[in-house]
Amino acid sequence: MAKDKILVVDDEEGVCSSLRGILEDEGFAVKTCSSGEECLRLTRKELFDLVMLDVWLPRLDGLQILEKLKAGSYPAGIIMISGHANVEMAVRATKLGAFDFIEKPLSLDKTLLVINNALRQKRLEEENRLLKAKLEDRYAIVGESDAMKKLKEQIMIAAPTNGRVMIFGENGTGKELVARAIHRSSLRASAPFVEVNCAAIPDELIESELFGHVKGSFTGAITDKVGKFEQADGGTLFLDEVGDMSYKTQSKVLRVLEEQRFERVGGGEPIEVDIRVIAATNKNLEEEIKKGNFRDDLYFRLNVIPLYVPHLRERLEDLPLLVSHFLELFSREHGQKPKQVTTEAIKQLQQYSWPGNVRELKNLVERLVIMVPSHQISREAVEMALKGRAEGEDRELYSFSSLREARHYFERELILRKLKENNFNITRAAKALQIDRTALHRRIKSLGLEPIREKPPSRDI
Ligand SMILES: Nc1ncnc2c1ncn2[C@@H]1O[C@H](COP(=O)(O)OP(=O)(O)OP(=O)(O)O)[C@@H](O)[C@H]1O
Ligand SMILES: [Mg+2]
Repeated sequence: MAKDKILVVDDEEGVCSSLRGILEDEGFAVKTCSSGEECLRLTRKELFDLVMLDVWLPRLDGLQILEKLKAGSYPAGIIMISGHANVEMAVRATKLGAFDFIEKPLSLDKTLLVINNALRQKRLEEENRLLKAKLEDRYAIVGESDAMKKLKEQIMIAAPTNGRVMIFGENGTGKELVARAIHRSSLRASAPFVEVNCAAIPDELIESELFGHVKGSFTGAITDKVGKFEQADGGTLFLDEVGDMSYKTQSKVLRVLEEQRFERVGGGEPIEVDIRVIAATNKNLEEEIKKGNFRDDLYFRLNVIPLYVPHLRERLEDLPLLVSHFLELFSREHGQKPKQVTTEAIKQLQQYSWPGNVRELKNLVERLVIMVPSHQISREAVEMALKGRAEGEDRELYSFSSLREARHYFERELILRKLKENNFNITRAAKALQIDRTALHRRIKSLGLEPIREKPPSRDI
């Protein structure tokens, strides 16, 4: 791990040299200077993790420098050193964004404590920033086609209202992204976004999942449980695949929406909640109503603002943008430089029908990032990957003509899966497969899975 870099700014030579000695012994990289001007010059050239600033300096004093560094968004933590305690100064320094301040004569323990706290705080802030950026990236809605522009406009109009939104669209078109975008741009953005996949929860559990239950209300209810409606209080509840909810559950949900309160399964006090509901479906709910599978009164309650997410086929002009977005995403994840895609390869992709929509495209790009050895993705590579996909996820178990072909296919899929599960760490994947590292390397090569490279270890912060 690289050493943390500290800049000490003090016009007393003794302070600089003793701090340098102590901090270097502690494993920090230290530079010192004796004036504000010099400090500004050094910080323009170099990114320090921490700056220790004497308050009393000739000409430009410590507070002025602090102000300048903060105005320029200099990312270091800043600790003020003051000759004599002065509450006013401390308050001003804190307001200006100093992390803390220490008094002369410096106590060794206190100094090291404050430095370590400041560095820890800075690391947390940095981590937080990265996570946020990653999250925003993950949930970004990519697309500049007319259809997507219109959808984004509708999202921005619907978001700040409290209106219930119903999102229609086929599988993998991005309905969940739309729901998250509405929440993020709403007045409820800092409250929770809670998702319920109505299709994935067995019918007998869905009520307890939605409304919670009290201990002992049914076999298996060994503790009290908070339901999704309660978890989402103040925020947004996303009812995904709402068309798959049973008729009975639909009635209960309808009542809760009307009354804005409910009870946990098994009784207890009525609970009032303030939630905004966003629902999504890939079904034609009007058809489902006709067939008697969906309650029309619930449909009208949920469908205040309808939004339609278009099929990828209807906006193929977005495909190049989506491809670069996913290339960047997965290259970063797999520790590679983003690859280039040739114009022919893009054309090839635009000819495909994309029954699985953007999700299918995303999976395909991940496959390409892992499997294509060169830095360029050609039309042939795309053809191969499209073929591999058709063979891949949907291949019938008994459709192979020879044992060799079946074995090859299965081995390849299993190895890929274990590699993914183990973050492309060959040693761990080999262990999971109960073979040794060199054998796995050999198999990877002979199955044409190269260039699966081991991921560089992540930086230890
Ligand atoms: N416009 C887009 N920009 C970037 N990524 C997208 C876009 N649309 C979809 N995706 C990605 O494709 C995948 C599928 O999207 P999402 O889960 O939102 O689809 P969905 O409509 O909810 O699908 P399903 O009906 O199958 O649940 C996600 O990983 C999502 O991040
Ligand atoms: Mg979904």
